[in-house]
Amino acid sequence: MATKPSANGPKPAWLDDKTKSIMDRAIAREKSLSHLLMMYIMTGLIFMLLPGTFLGVWNLIKISSREAAESISPAWIQAHGHAQLFGWVGTFILGIGFYSIPKLRKLKPFALWSAWLTWALWVIGATVRWFSNIYPWHWRLALPMSATLELAAFLIFFQAVASHRPSSDSAKPVEPWIFVVIAATLGLLASLLLNLGASFQLALNAGSPAFPHLFDQRYLIVSTWGFIVPMVWGFSARWLPVFMGLRPLRNSILLVALGLNTVGVVLGFLEYFVAAGILLMAGAATAVAAIRFFELAVKPAKTVNVHRSFPVFIRIAYGWLLIAAGLGIWAAFAGGAPGIWGASRHALTVGFIAAMIFCVGQRILPSFCGMRVLWSSKLMLVMLILLMTGCTLRVASEILAYQDYEQWAWNVLPISAVIELTAVTLFAVNLIVTFVRRSVAVTSPLTMMTE
Ligand code: HEM
Repeated sequence: MATKPSANGPKPAWLDDKTKSIMDRAIAREKSLSHLLMMYIMTGLIFMLLPGTFLGVWNLIKISSREAAESISPAWIQAHGHAQLFGWVGTFILGIGFYSIPKLRKLKPFALWSAWLTWALWVIGATVRWFSNIYPWHWRLALPMSATLELAAFLIFFQAVASHRPSSDSAKPVEPWIFVVIAATLGLLASLLLNLGASFQLALNAGSPAFPHLFDQRYLIVSTWGFIVPMVWGFSARWLPVFMGLRPLRNSILLVALGLNTVGVVLGFLEYFVAAGILLMAGAATAVAAIRFFELAVKPAKTVNVHRSFPVFIRIAYGWLLIAAGLGIWAAFAGGAPGIWGASRHALTVGFIAAMIFCVGQRILPSFCGMRVLWSSKLMLVMLILLMTGCTLRVASEILAYQDYEQWAWNVLPISAVIELTAVTLFAVNLIVTFVRRSVAVTSPLTMMTE
């Protein structure tokens, strides 16, 4: 019986030399792409741990000890936010985009050097941004320089993954999940352009590297709801119906969700916060209905190599998305309510975005990064329980403490921060050990994806 060609094993004798050489080149390219992706993921993990989460915990402990939300420098808060959204999540998305989008869209292979150049420019840009917010040494130069480097990195990425499909495939209709990913990519472009404009504006006219509060709030709507949220929806629509055994995707409803979300983001940026909140909620509820998370699954979930609770946590994460949108509406009605805005933001960033990356990341990254198997699925469960516990404590106590509803809630905030920090660290440990161990699988990444 003919053996199935594998990346690790010898090629069967019946293959001719031309086929063998094509296979060798394909395997070499797959290995290079895996190394590239691993580099992006490791870099993202470093941003997540130190400039991102550690600084966030530090900020929260200081806020709690002084019992005043506005008691720390806005530049330090923004350093944390930028490191998480762009240093961590952005780096993951660029790496996964380089690895998967050309394959999923059957594009011609891009030149690998462009992905390495993107990595270098992006990492320098995000690092310089963090330092210019923390130590305002030559920040008038550093801030616009970091924004320029990030935009340049994005443009190289865009050029590589947005090229036209070969003519044989271009006649086929573009799948709706791709529209959602394209919209999210445009959201990233909009965020980077706003960041660039604001950085130059501050460098020329302001006395500190921190964005003014109102602009920051509008900018965050674009970079969270306009970029990361639709990106997660797009990849959810592509992978989760298979991974979770869901009913077939409602494609046209997904596009309606995207439309509602996009109008919500535009209105939010224009400071119509109530209307924006309602549209973002409507968009999120419509996306949930389109992907059919809360309907009975029709097939067993594919949880090989991850913890079998995977579908439960995906559903909880989408629950947090709806909670974040609901809190956003409350915050908009309440006006200047830092506790409710902050709770909405972290329901979104920790409850939804981080939880989705922790679930889907541990499902796909080991196989993408050299056909590995996740080190510990039990650790995955512990980490997700901790993340959800920390997030629940954080969101609830942020409203109670910052809004002066309950004094004792100030004491809960640092506990929530340490629980979230532990969860984030365990996620990093699980992935790093997975990458350091030798690959054990013999099937291809695509086969592993569908098991
Ligand atoms: C251990 C977990 C975390 C802690 C302790 C933490 C802490 C904080 C604190 C204290 C603030 C200041 C505003 C407020 O009090 O609400 C803040 C803001 C923010 N955080 Fe977090 N955070 C954590 C995780 C995350 C994650 C995972 C993300 C994104 C993926 C994130 C994104 C943001 C953003 C975007 C802001 C707003 C920054 C700005 O005002 O420009 N945080 N965080």
